[in-house]
Amino acid sequence: VTGHETAHILLGWYDRHARDLPWRVGPADRARGIRPDPYRVWLSEVMLQQTTVAAVRGYYERFTALWPTVGDLAAADDARVMGEWAGLGYYARARNLLKCARVVAGDLGGRFPDTAEALRDLPGIGPYTAAAIAAIAFDRPETVVDGNVERVMARLFAVETPLPAAKSALRAHAAGLTPKVRPGDYAQAVMDLGATICTPKSPACGICPLRPRCAARATGIAAALPRRSPK
Ligand code: ADE
Repeated sequence: VTGHETAHILLGWYDRHARDLPWRVGPADRARGIRPDPYRVWLSEVMLQQTTVAAVRGYYERFTALWPTVGDLAAADDARVMGEWAGLGYYARARNLLKCARVVAGDLGGRFPDTAEALRDLPGIGPYTAAAIAAIAFDRPETVVDGNVERVMARLFAVETPLPAAKSALRAHAAGLTPKVRPGDYAQAVMDLGATICTPKSPACGICPLRPRCAARATGIAAALPRRSPK
């Protein structure tokens, strides 16, 4: 499996099948060179940290309607923001959201840092979220690894080592595939593949764009991967 071919196939699949999510730039705008707004990418990624896409959608729409810019959110009343967050859970995220908005609006002139390293210094932004924002908002070739990505890599490369021991090997596979072009679209393509085709229980291998290059599919073990160590 050569990395750049696999990434190219995934990008082509994403152009045709990307989920229509409110924090994404659609294919027509993307073709015109329109970039996602870093504030919106950050807000969506913080909301998505421990919450499903389906649950986040409405909250994201309300937040961006109430507070369209990081400056608006920074100036918001704390209790109002916590009230709008109610139901999303993990309330430390909402407190860090406000702290981060105030650092960006107050100390950074309203501009988010454009590297993963600098993003990691902000409240509530860990390595995963920093990589996601850097790739999606700033086209940095960062490798974004979540549970979906681990599952796709375990299957593509038929990694039989159970999680969590397999984590570093899966990250290395993911890094090897990350392209220099469109890394943000690529990261979201792998997430969408994991969410819609390469699903945990019964993967839809019959319609998967990576089927011809999937090692687990070739031996019929896709649904059994990734393996997990017994607790
Ligand atoms: N989960 C985390 N970030 C995501 C994104 N940008 N698109 C879809 N699912 C995600």
